[in-house]
Amino acid sequence: MVTKPCIQLSSISYRYALTSVPVLHNLDLEVSDERIGLIGPNGSGKTTLFQIMVGLLPPESGRLFFEGQEMRCEKDFRLLRRQVGFLFQSADDQLFSPTVLEDVAFGPLNLGLSPEEARDRAVGTLKELGLAGFEERITHRLSGGEKKLVALATILSMKPRLLLLDEPTNNLDPATRDRLTDILQGLPQAQIIISHDWDFLARTTSHLYTLEHGHIHRCEHDHIHSHQHIHRYGDHPHQHND
Ligand SMILES: Nc1ncnc2c1ncn2[C@@H]1O[C@H](COP(=O)(O)OP(=O)(O)O)[C@@H](O)[C@H]1O
Ligand SMILES: [Mg+2]
Repeated sequence: MVTKPCIQLSSISYRYALTSVPVLHNLDLEVSDERIGLIGPNGSGKTTLFQIMVGLLPPESGRLFFEGQEMRCEKDFRLLRRQVGFLFQSADDQLFSPTVLEDVAFGPLNLGLSPEEARDRAVGTLKELGLAGFEERITHRLSGGEKKLVALATILSMKPRLLLLDEPTNNLDPATRDRLTDILQGLPQAQIIISHDWDFLARTTSHLYTLEHGHIHRCEHDHIHSHQHIHRYGDHPHQHND
């Protein structure tokens, strides 16, 4: 039996109102169980692409399939969003409950779990992320790194099949970045990670795609590698010969 791709985008185009140039132009993408790094200059449309993938923006044209089913309307995307977790670039956009436990239990409650089951799921997820004891903490008083991990917990508590992570290491200190790296490496889910952080991508993903001028390309010949030097122009794809 041939397994269907998790998500498939076919000839997707998108342009913001009042702009003449499309951000995405006839874009094709197929994701199964890989861990993909997505790079591209600022403003190239990476976040827009994620928003389209979860139905937060309707494409101007093109088709999107989840597990072989075409997603046509908001009802379809509501079901998709149970299985595709989107970690926003800013944790403050993701967290809205007074306490950490309420935020992390929100998704499971929405999935139809009982309050006790949702609580257990949230407590278990926090523990897996090394956040045991954070349950009653006031969300808006957490540090930036703590907020990022709690935001990740709000998604993982729904046990999604695919994770979309938008610049997850932005503004993290090195220790929290390493902690996030370890967590992502240990997760079973397929992942697409938008990042300018090459070393982080080298440790978390196996394929690299670039998005530029509305098109996405898979870097067939680039090997993601870890290295230590400063990229003055680190948001552009590049190769090393040594
Ligand atoms: N709500 C919006 N209205 C108009 N233009 C937008 C809006 N959001 C983003 N853009 C523009 O669309 C382009 C792509 O944005 P975005 O997807 O956020 O890029 P990236 O995530 O790659 O930095 C940018 O030029 C940005 O200014
Ligand atoms: Mg972005």
